[in-house]
Amino acid sequence: MSAFTHHIFICSNQRSPGHARGCCDPAGTEALRNAFKAEVKRRGLTPLVRANNAGCLDQCEFGPTVVIYPQGIWYGNVQLCDVARIIDETIIGGRILEDLLIADALLNTKGGTIRPSSPVDSSAETDTT
Ligand code: FES
Repeated sequence: MSAFTHHIFICSNQRSPGHARGCCDPAGTEALRNAFKAEVKRRGLTPLVRANNAGCLDQCEFGPTVVIYPQGIWYGNVQLCDVARIIDETIIGGRILEDLLIADALLNTKGGTIRPSSPVDSSAETDTT
């Protein structure tokens, strides 16, 4: 059993300016993580909801990146103005915010193209023999 109903990991990774993959907290302020922590506390959601700093979550091209476990909800391009909405809609309401959701097919693509729905789905492949 999970110790938390929602464990929110907020990427606060920094990279050098101009890095090909960018990073989620270029200014190094941890402002997004601090906003989540403050909002969770303000609403009295502790101890069952926790917001933690995370290193690179390997979805950099979609950052700033946030993942919520155990639900496995990945949000990208999360801004400070989204924090209250994520708490209201997803953490409290159980609803996915489609405008922030990183689709499963895009995870681990390094910002690339959508993967086929199944690795054994050969219908999309062209027979070249
Ligand atoms: S730098 Fe945030 S996901 Fe990689």
